[in-house]
Amino acid sequence: MKLAVIEGDGIGREVIPVAVKVLDAFGLEFEKVPLELGYTQWERTGTAISSDDLEIIKGCDAVLFGAVTTVPDPNCKSVLLTIRKELDLYANVRPVKPLPCIIGVTGRNDFDFIIVRENTEGLYSGIEEIGSDISWTKRVVTRRSSERIAEYACKLAKKRKNKLTIVHKSNVLKSDKLFLDVCRQTASANNVEYKDMLVDSMAYNLMMHPERYDIVVTTNLFGDILSDMCAALVGSLGLVPSANIGDKYAFFEPVHGSAPDIAGKGIANPLAAILSVKMLLEWMGEPRSQIIDEAITHVLQKKIITPDLGGTASTMEVGNAVAEYVRKNI
Ligand code: NAD
Ligand code: IPM
Ligand code: MN
Repeated sequence: MKLAVIEGDGIGREVIPVAVKVLDAFGLEFEKVPLELGYTQWERTGTAISSDDLEIIKGCDAVLFGAVTTVPDPNCKSVLLTIRKELDLYANVRPVKPLPCIIGVTGRNDFDFIIVRENTEGLYSGIEEIGSDISWTKRVVTRRSSERIAEYACKLAKKRKNKLTIVHKSNVLKSDKLFLDVCRQTASANNVEYKDMLVDSMAYNLMMHPERYDIVVTTNLFGDILSDMCAALVGSLGLVPSANIGDKYAFFEPVHGSAPDIAGKGIANPLAAILSVKMLLEWMGEPRSQIIDEAITHVLQKKIITPDLGGTASTMEVGNAVAEYVRKNI
């Protein structure tokens, strides 16, 4: 197993080393390939990700990623979007699950759903023109990408409550009619119970009735926005992990960004990155991955928590406590 480790910048450099400690506590055979990509690489070289970097990544089986700050040059390739596209990581899987002892903005903890975000097209097509009087971005929805994300979502639904919610905006964006139709057909063909909902209404319903949902499938930008919103249900952006899955590669990262407002202070919550390691272990089929949940329960019960959760612990203290629990109980 060859794992590319990309800390990125900002708090990516703080949470990933800690997440790697937790991974190391499992004592598994990994060849780790560290890569320096992102803002500092762009400042130094003018590119945030080079074709050589991409070749190195393609020589690995999976990637553990922190976060990168978007560079101010619109012509500079985005590290994240380039990797997602080049590795054809078409399913962005973002579980939204409460954690013990932590209550999010709605005060409830009776929900457990997964946002399955189409990860290769939609408004992230990269087909755009920026002008001084008019700028536009082409929103692309294809049958093939809609089909494979719908299949992925249905496969997940079958392992859970068999309930799919298709989120779209086809009342305005006619391109979403194709997405909706394909998702409906795929759900029917797979005997998955489904409903659909307009994204604005979905945002409201997720806050009001989060317990109603199981698998939520949606297009790229809606999935991006809803997943940050749903982090507030859990209690912090520092608590929600994600997996970008393709047929050959997989890429694991916290949902949050580089958080320049807290970077360098050593107070970023590392649990999203640690839960991303758990998703990596699950993807590998490691049966002991759930010990990470136990370890997190242990640190939360002991109130070893960072300031975003009202605590005073540092990134390192939380990470060390999780890693130590794993080491002792593995
Ligand atoms: P952000 O997710 O970095 O931060 C949003 C808010 O959440 C901030 O107040 C931040 O302090 C807080 N937060 C985020 N992660 C946290 C953690 N682990 N612990 C505690 N608090 C946390 O979003 P932003 O500020 O809009 O974006 C900053 C930069 O990151 C931008 O350049 C953006 O493009 C980039 N970004 C990168 C990724 C990625 O690389 N995966 C994802 C999102 C944003
Ligand atoms: C995410 C991020 C990225 C996205 C950005 C940084 C390109 O917000 O992974 O959620 O929009 O997909
Ligand atoms: Mn996002």
